[in-house]
Amino acid sequence: MDYNKFFDNALGRLHDERRYRVFADLERIAGRFPHATWHSPKGPRPIVMWCSNDYLGMGQHPKVVGAMVETATRAGTGAGGTRNIAGNNHSLIQLEHELADLHGKEAALVFTSGYVSNQTGIATLAKLIPNCLILSDALNHNSMIEGIRQSGTQYLVFRHNDVAHLEELLRANPGRPTLIVCESLYSMDGDVAPLAKICDLAERYSAMTYVDEVHAVGMYGPRGGGIAERDGVMHRIDILEGTLAKAFGCLGGYIAGSAKMVDAVRSYAPGFIFTTALPPAICSAATAAIKHLKSSSWERERHQDRAARLKAILTAAGLPVMSSDTHIVPLFVGDPERCKKACDLLLEQHGIYIQPINYPTVPKGTERLRITPSPYHEDALIDGLADALVQVWEQLGLPLHAKPLAAE
Ligand SMILES: Cc1ncc(COP(=O)(O)O)c(C=O)c1O
Repeated sequence: MDYNKFFDNALGRLHDERRYRVFADLERIAGRFPHATWHSPKGPRPIVMWCSNDYLGMGQHPKVVGAMVETATRAGTGAGGTRNIAGNNHSLIQLEHELADLHGKEAALVFTSGYVSNQTGIATLAKLIPNCLILSDALNHNSMIEGIRQSGTQYLVFRHNDVAHLEELLRANPGRPTLIVCESLYSMDGDVAPLAKICDLAERYSAMTYVDEVHAVGMYGPRGGGIAERDGVMHRIDILEGTLAKAFGCLGGYIAGSAKMVDAVRSYAPGFIFTTALPPAICSAATAAIKHLKSSSWERERHQDRAARLKAILTAAGLPVMSSDTHIVPLFVGDPERCKKACDLLLEQHGIYIQPINYPTVPKGTERLRITPSPYHEDALIDGLADALVQVWEQLGLPLHAKPLAAE
C-alpha cells in the first residue's frame, strides 16, 4: 500500500483548487518590530511585517520579555505536566486572577491556546447543559464550530450579526436552555457584533452568552477588556473567551465567567485535563502584558491612529480598502491566484510581508489581503506600503479606483 499516494492526492486537490498554503521562513527581531528577516531561497533579507496578530507589539515589550526571562531563569522551562499531574504552577494562578479581574468575572481558566479554549470550552459547556441548543453566528471561527460539533448538541446558525434572525430562533425555541455563541470582532472583515442587542435578547429569552474576544482583548475598552468592556456590556456576558497570543504577545487562551462555570469546565473539559499546562514563563509574560495594557492606553490609541491613517492613505491611492470599523484593514482582490501573486510580488520586490487570505478562510470570490498595522508602523512605512501596493496592483492589472479629488 502506497500511503504517501493518499497524501499526495490530497495535496494535489489543494493545488488544483489554488488553495495550497505556503508559509514564508521569517525571523522576528525583538526591539525592531515590525521589521523582521525573511530567510528567502536566496539568503536572509530584511522585510516589514504587515499582517502580524501581535497587534500591539507586546511580544517584544521589555516588561513582557523581562517577565518571561526572569521566570524561566527562576522556575525553568516546562510546566512539568498536566495540571492534574503537576499541580497548578503559581504563575498560572496569578495569570488567571489577572484575567478574571480584566473581565470583572469571578474566575478565569487558562488553556494552551485560544483554539483549544473554544473547542473544548464550548463542547464541555454545551454537554453540561441538559437539552442545550446552541445558536451560532454564521461567521464564527473554526475553533467555535469544532467545539459546537464536538458537543453533539443541536445547533442553529443565525445570519451574521443579524439580531432579528437570532430573535426568530430564540422565539421558536421557548423555554429551552440556549447558548448564544458569537465573536465580538470578526477578524477577516473587521466588523463588530451588536453585543448590547445580543445581551438584550439573551436576557429576554433567558439564554446564556459566550463571546469570543480574541481579536479585541488588549485593544479595546479602557483597560483592554475588549469590545464588551468598550460597549459597557462586559457584566452582561456570561462567558468571555480570549487569547494570550495576539494583543498580549504570548501564547494560550482562556475563558472567564462565574466560579461555578469555570470549575465545571476545569473538571470536565478533556482539552483542559489531558494536556500539559502552559509553561510558567509564558504565564508570567502574559500577566505582564495584561497588567501593562490595563493601565497604558498609549498602545491602543496609537494603534487606532495607525489604522485610520493607513485606511486613509490606501483609499487616497485608489486601492480597494474594504470598509471596516476596527484596526483590521482588508484590501479586496477577489481572485485566489492574483491574491497569492500580489503577496509574492510584495515580498520579493518590496520586502513587504502580507499573507494572502483565500478560501476557506473567506468565501470564494472575496479573496483579500488582510493588513494589520501596529503602533510601530511609522508614517514612512505606511507611505512605502501604499506605493508598493499601487505598483503591484498595476503589474497584475487589478483595478485602481479614481483618486478622490482634493477639497477645493
Ligand atoms: C476568532 C478566533 N478565535 C480563536 C482563535 C484561536 O486563538 P489562538 O490563536 O490563541 O489559538 C482565533 C485565531 O486566530 C480566532 O481568529
